[in-house]
Amino acid sequence: MSIDNEIYSQQASGWWDENHFLHLLKTGINPPRFGYFRDALTCQLGLQPQALSVLDVGCGGGILSEEFAKLGCRVTGIDPSAPSLDAARQHAARENLTIEYRQASGENIPFDADSFDVVICCDVLEHVDDLEKTIHEVARVLKPDGMFCYDTINRTAESRKANIFAAQNFPLTSFFPPNTHVWEKFITPEEILVLFEKAGFDNRDMTGLNSALPDLQVAGLLIRRKFGLLTFAELGRQLKFQTGGGLQASYLGWAVKK
Ligand SMILES: C[S@@+](CC[C@H](N)C(=O)[O-])C[C@H]1O[C@@H](n2cnc3c(N)ncnc32)[C@H](O)[C@@H]1O
Repeated sequence: MSIDNEIYSQQASGWWDENHFLHLLKTGINPPRFGYFRDALTCQLGLQPQALSVLDVGCGGGILSEEFAKLGCRVTGIDPSAPSLDAARQHAARENLTIEYRQASGENIPFDADSFDVVICCDVLEHVDDLEKTIHEVARVLKPDGMFCYDTINRTAESRKANIFAAQNFPLTSFFPPNTHVWEKFITPEEILVLFEKAGFDNRDMTGLNSALPDLQVAGLLIRRKFGLLTFAELGRQLKFQTGGGLQASYLGWAVKK
């Protein structure tokens, strides 16, 4: 079974649409993941956002790029999907944000070595064709001591239940189109750490990224959304995603280039 990354071109108008599943990234996932990265960057590494160049690999419609731009960073986003980049450019213009968007993949990043202070790659590693090459490319374009911020999905029974069964397959709760995710492409923390070591990264932190609600309550919200009683924007807020806890489904972290 192969992953369907064409979804991001066919449904690119959905990134900033409160009634589209892509918008879950904005209201559900962005608040905890951006807060976590911002704190690591400013509190733990003591960096000044205004001085930083940031590359967002697999930026999609710019949902996370915009947060870093609003923080004052100089942001560049790359993605293979031209329609997603158009949506990202249009939204940034409406928000008066200056972000450079370019069409490219994580496997072939079109920038010189040692170009960026920070690289972010969120909800993307489980989509790429060549994970090892992508991580090597991220390491190449980062400056020494540069920071790599990532989130992805673990390959476990829990992620099969949440991300494949509930979110993609079960008619009463599903919202992802078929093959949005392929379980076999999910990445265990152990696998990512081996690749980081090979690419010259020192991983500094890794933690869970999950709903604070019990499974039954999550199912209830997904069913209400299915019956049109909630928008995706509202669903994202009500799912109360938070960092911390186990790595058994989604997880995020940051590493530094040695
Ligand atoms: C789930 S979306 C995440 C978008 C964005 N990072 C966010 O979190 O808001 C996955 C993105 O990865 C992109 N993608 C797919 N294959 C890729 C590759 N080989 N290199 C870089 N990005 C890729 C898709 O086009 C899509 O925009």
